Amino acid sequence: MSLEHFISIHDITTDEFKHLMDLGFRLKKETKQGIPHPILRGKVLGMIFTKSSTRTRISFETGMYQLGGYPIFLSSHDIQLGRGESIYDTANVMSRFVDGIMIRTYAHQDVLDLARFGSVPVINGLTDLLHPCQVMADLMTVYEHKGRLEGLKLAYIGDGNNMAHSLLYGCAKAGMDISVATPKGYEPDSEIVQNAKEDAKETGSKIVVTYDPVEAMTDADVVCTDTWVSMGQEAEKAERIKIFKDYQINSELFEKSKDDSIFIHCLPAYRGYEVTEDIIDGPRSVIFDEAENRLHAQKAVLAAVMGKI
Ligand code: CP
Ligand code: NVA
Repeated sequence: MSLEHFISIHDITTDEFKHLMDLGFRLKKETKQGIPHPILRGKVLGMIFTKSSTRTRISFETGMYQLGGYPIFLSSHDIQLGRGESIYDTANVMSRFVDGIMIRTYAHQDVLDLARFGSVPVINGLTDLLHPCQVMADLMTVYEHKGRLEGLKLAYIGDGNNMAHSLLYGCAKAGMDISVATPKGYEPDSEIVQNAKEDAKETGSKIVVTYDPVEAMTDADVVCTDTWVSMGQEAEKAERIKIFKDYQINSELFEKSKDDSIFIHCLPAYRGYEVTEDIIDGPRSVIFDEAENRLHAQKAVLAAVMGKI
């Protein structure tokens, strides 16, 4: 399969989505069995970070190494982009050196511009709008624990942020129902909800956006939340903690979901805010399987965009 870029799950077809999931599982199995798969031998990935990261950086670096390629970590503190060099020049220059670019940054438009001006594949490692690699890993994790995706219901409780947006796109592609519950004023972007509803027509998934966390949680197979204070929103922390307090995943709310529901969280998590310790560290939490799957899901993305597999 040949994917030009991986910027949004909305951009890929349902077949491409399934291919990436299958490839992720294959690469995971081979990794566990010690079977090498140097699909990207001799290829170089430039990784631009203008925001912090633990999982994304480590999983992309490790993934490139396991695929036989070489990753270069480029913090905006060190490269000229951080001093005002344009995306246009950065894209053109980097395209002369590397075979692919992964970028984590604030403005989604910068990622689109990097893809437009450069001539190598671009992978979105998180923007203020979307976090598609995370959701590929999330859906791999759900599949592993539930044996299917189609027909399941995911409840996302909290901020209508980049995670909510990519989950809307991911669930719509996977044929999963999704209910997003947020406080007023923190709803997901209406254009993204509309796009997800369009995608859902093909797969039959049901998309609901509500202010009522109990409604969203009812009969959910998968329960998900994210930080109330995303990167770049630190100044709003005190205000957000007040606004989101009724959207905490605690035992009272968790028990509205199915008895065998699982809890996922992209991490980093803030215990006592968006989720209580008993839930995130409890028996139905699969957060570390989910974190591990970043590696496998992203190797599939790398193999598809840089190796045309
Ligand atoms: N979930 C996630 O993207 O984690 P990092 O911010 O640590 O990369
Ligand atoms: N919504 C969070 C996700 C972190 C992985 C943020 O953007 O900071």
